[in-house]
Amino acid sequence: MKLSAYRITANKVRTTRILSIKTESPTVKIFTLKDKQCAKAEPGQFLMLWIPRIDEVPLSVLDVRENGMVSVAVKKVGEATSALHDKRVGEIVGVRGPFGNSFALKEGRILMVSGGTGTVPILFLAKQLVSKTSRLVFVIGAKTRDELLFMNEMKTRFDKEKTRIIAATEDGSYGVKGLATTPLKSLLAKEKFNMIYTCGPEQMMREVFDLAEKYEVPLEASLERLMRCAIGLCGSCVVGKYRVCRDGPVFTSQQLREVKQEFGHFKRDFDGKRIRV
Ligand SMILES: Cc1cc2nc3c(=O)[nH]c(=O)nc-3n(C[C@H](O)[C@H](O)[C@H](O)COP(=O)(O)OP(=O)(O)OC[C@H]3O[C@@H](n4cnc5c(N)ncnc54)[C@H](O)[C@@H]3O)c2cc1C
Ligand code: FES
Repeated sequence: MKLSAYRITANKVRTTRILSIKTESPTVKIFTLKDKQCAKAEPGQFLMLWIPRIDEVPLSVLDVRENGMVSVAVKKVGEATSALHDKRVGEIVGVRGPFGNSFALKEGRILMVSGGTGTVPILFLAKQLVSKTSRLVFVIGAKTRDELLFMNEMKTRFDKEKTRIIAATEDGSYGVKGLATTPLKSLLAKEKFNMIYTCGPEQMMREVFDLAEKYEVPLEASLERLMRCAIGLCGSCVVGKYRVCRDGPVFTSQQLREVKQEFGHFKRDFDGKRIRV
């Protein structure tokens, strides 16, 4: 299929039923749907999930299966995500996508830094990367122990010889007390990495980016912005000269250097006004 034809079909809303719902944390649920097109998503890509009569929200793809199943993990934060959390298996939702680019799969010693639901695309990526890596270190941050996402899955799925998980909680209830960036400084001072992947709160990613620059490690970061159209038309997701939905959500160190004045500092609200991140 030609790229333009692919984009048109990706952008069509398809209705589908929720096939399963799993509680991952007190505020995050995993929803699995059948959608052949989104089941072709690569790590880093996102879909737009329409909750009938409420709203449509962008969500990173958590996992895909060959039988057309696709999963997302959703944190309850506002009107649309709360309405989704109230849904039951069998209820209808709409889906568009997959949209955006994906992480580049690199080999060697890999560092992954995530916070909150930023762990969603990072876990999807790790599943594809694990066979290529000689060492995979996860640094995962959350406010509290209950909100550290996918810890059990990571512990059971990945080879302990090759994988290390460092958790940080803001209240100190598990792992290192502090933000995900707290253990990063000493880690980067001690160990060499071939690549850093990061997703999470933007101020955290900005700190990870600054450290990656200091230690000269290439980085890819997955950015979040308000999104409406998801196809590069409305401009609500703009960062510098880029539109996050079309040119991202994954950006390289080189691209982030170009938008250094905005990245980690400013975003747009629903009226297009520049506001602090
Ligand atoms: C590329 C991308 C991937 C994302 N992946 C995930 C994910 O895997 N899991 C997850 O739980 N959340 C993810 N989000 C965030 C999610 O889209 C928002 O939490 C959701 O849109 C909030 O909708 P609401 O109506 O419940 O909340 P609202 O009441 O509308 O807002 C609550 C908060 O969510 C933010 N928000 C609202 N609408 C949007 C929007 N259209 N785009 C981005 N942020 C918005 C607002 O700034 C506000 O801080 C992602 C966002 C983007 C852009
Ligand atoms: S969401 Fe419309 S341009 Fe990106």
